[in-house]
Amino acid sequence: MKWRDSMAPAGVCAHETTTRHAGAIYPFLFETGRRIPGVVVGVELSGGTFSFDPFTLYASGVLSNPNMVVFGQIGRGKSSFVKTMIYRQLTFGRGAYVIDPKGEYSALGHACGVTPLALRPGGPLRLNPLDLVGDDIHEGAVRRLQLLESLVSSSLGRDLFSRERSALELALHDVQQSTNTATLPLVSNALLQPSAESARSIYSSQEQLCDDGREVGLELRRLVTGDLKGLFDAETSSSLDLDQRLVILDLSALYGSEALGLFMVCATAWVQQLLQRQRNAGRQSLLVVDEAWAILNDVAVARWLQSSWKLARAWGVSNIAVLHRVSDLKGVGSDGSEQQGLAQGLLLDSETRVIYAQPTGEVDAARDLLHLNETERSLLVKLPRGVALWKVGNNSSIVRHLVGQRERQIVDTDGAMG
Ligand SMILES: Nc1ncnc2c1ncn2[C@@H]1O[C@H](COP(=O)(O)OP(=O)(O)OP(=O)(O)O)[C@@H](O)[C@H]1O
Ligand SMILES: [Mg+2]
Repeated sequence: MKWRDSMAPAGVCAHETTTRHAGAIYPFLFETGRRIPGVVVGVELSGGTFSFDPFTLYASGVLSNPNMVVFGQIGRGKSSFVKTMIYRQLTFGRGAYVIDPKGEYSALGHACGVTPLALRPGGPLRLNPLDLVGDDIHEGAVRRLQLLESLVSSSLGRDLFSRERSALELALHDVQQSTNTATLPLVSNALLQPSAESARSIYSSQEQLCDDGREVGLELRRLVTGDLKGLFDAETSSSLDLDQRLVILDLSALYGSEALGLFMVCATAWVQQLLQRQRNAGRQSLLVVDEAWAILNDVAVARWLQSSWKLARAWGVSNIAVLHRVSDLKGVGSDGSEQQGLAQGLLLDSETRVIYAQPTGEVDAARDLLHLNETERSLLVKLPRGVALWKVGNNSSIVRHLVGQRERQIVDTDGAMG
């Protein structure tokens, strides 16, 4: 393809060249490699710049979904890539929402003029995970019920029985009838004191319905007076600016806690109603769940995350999950197990996979789960920091992520080592 330098001053013969040569003269402006449109990520080791944009690739039919998973050993540059991706995408008017379990996105926030929302027990900030909304009242209620079921079954360590599920559904219905703002404590109370109308609707008695939902009600109560207390147990703090283009939820005060997965699920649920607002404002956004292994470790909450992944296209959202090992997806569970189904479902719904170096013991699982060829498999143990194997739909590239001078302080997590 010919390219004509339209910036040539009047009277001077305009420069005309091919895009291949222009790529060499003007790096970062022209693609010479695979020509993926989007923000620049870095350079392909086979030559040329490498760019990426999940939304344009989806619109052009290269990808059938806009989601991404990023794998890699500790310190290989996963979060650095995600931070610069956000920084660069914001320039193009996109929004970004980050679940930040280690509290390491504050430099990015600072560079963008945004203060992270720090959630800490006893702190002033409350988020209501049941703020979840949908396109209609029914969809919002379904998402709330899914979330409640995931939280309780994860906490109980088992799936709910059908009578418990019905009791939960009726309790949520009762709460939604009486208030516009359902909260976890209100649902817990409604389970422990079901209404006569709810009991009648399933041809049962109040005593029986109370009995059916009692264990779920008590477990939910335990959660809101224990792990989730003071964070996710009330209406969302009214002081929050819900229309910021970059929202960072800093969960570092909860990092290392056994309930980290539950905290992350509640935080992600709350963020999803912001995404809905963004969509209504016509803005496409990234939703980053860093350290997503904490969610995926638990089958019940992984189910919920997967259902959220499925909403990506409808909401104009590109979900990005950051994981360490491929086996974080539990894809190596027994054949036909639910874990395997979930892992494969999440991968199918994440057509872009960015794979940094993996430990030797993981490469076979990576090959099988990500359908790598032998060359790609053997490369995985050798990739240096900042270099990843990119699988975008059917295309593969080895890419060195480039960090600009101004971006260095955004990505630095080695400060203490300096
Ligand atoms: N492409 C790169 N160019 C230069 N430095 C980089 C690059 N990628 C990462 N680094 C540096 O490597 C360090 C570790 O990176 P990062 O925190 O992104 O790793 P990580 O894979 O997210 O680690 P963890 O698994 O612990 O979360 C950072 O200090 C960052 O500055
Ligand atoms: Mg990281």
